[in-house]
Amino acid sequence: MQNNTLSLSQIRGLLDPGESFRLEVHGSIDSTNNRAKALALDGVSDVTVIVADRQTAGRGRMGRSFLSPPGSGLYLSVLFRPTIAPELIAQITPFAAVAAAEVIERLSGMPVGIKWVNDLQMNGKKICGILTEAQFGASGQPDFVVLGIGINVGQREWPPELCELAGSIEELCGTCLSRNLLAAELLTALTPLFHGTLPTFLPEYRARSVLLEKPVTVWQGDGHYDGVATAIEDDGALVVTLPGGAQRILHAGEVSVRLR
Ligand code: BTN
Repeated sequence: MQNNTLSLSQIRGLLDPGESFRLEVHGSIDSTNNRAKALALDGVSDVTVIVADRQTAGRGRMGRSFLSPPGSGLYLSVLFRPTIAPELIAQITPFAAVAAAEVIERLSGMPVGIKWVNDLQMNGKKICGILTEAQFGASGQPDFVVLGIGINVGQREWPPELCELAGSIEELCGTCLSRNLLAAELLTALTPLFHGTLPTFLPEYRARSVLLEKPVTVWQGDGHYDGVATAIEDDGALVVTLPGGAQRILHAGEVSVRLR
């Protein structure tokens, strides 16, 4: 990977000057989501973007870790106080998946698919994961949301357990994307969310799905079962049809789905 240093001034220079994000760029941090949450609990109310070159405890869904080596990935979290309806909070992850897929595809020239609910894939390998965390107040209104996005930009070495599953944009299409440009384009694509708007994204989410019409295995708790992913509902739930024809409606929660 060529010189691809993260720079607060470069990211800021690429953003719409009318957008007043608070922006922090860290060399090393445990998790950008942790930092964003800590700021929220301290009462920060501005839209705040945390970017790091490396995470020592990057987190993924279902208590998993997210490998975050230095110099080669984009680890970014946005803290915001949502003004969208509470029932739309679950749609933030799929909306962000579409936004990130469109940005990466435009900058890299390679097709990007979405593996329900929060993974982006290029050539069948995971290049990006999204972890949205929210805290709700007594009224049921969300106090804050932390939207965390990790993109494998230039990694070329993987631990054995990830070799088959994960890849980086540079590895998969030979293009070395500027992490600063990627961060700025991503933030620009996500901006409507910070202003209380959730633009239409479901048709694009469905069109990019790598699971629809495919045989899948669903892992839930200690068990698993096979079926075919047949639809994505308007609320983002995945419909899996079992061999006998019965249907299971899956909400993100503690469910993991893999292609068979
Ligand atoms: C997943 O693959 O399950 C989600 C991974 C999300 C990783 C990003 S990197 C930036 C932010 N900080 C974290 O600790 N996690 C998210």
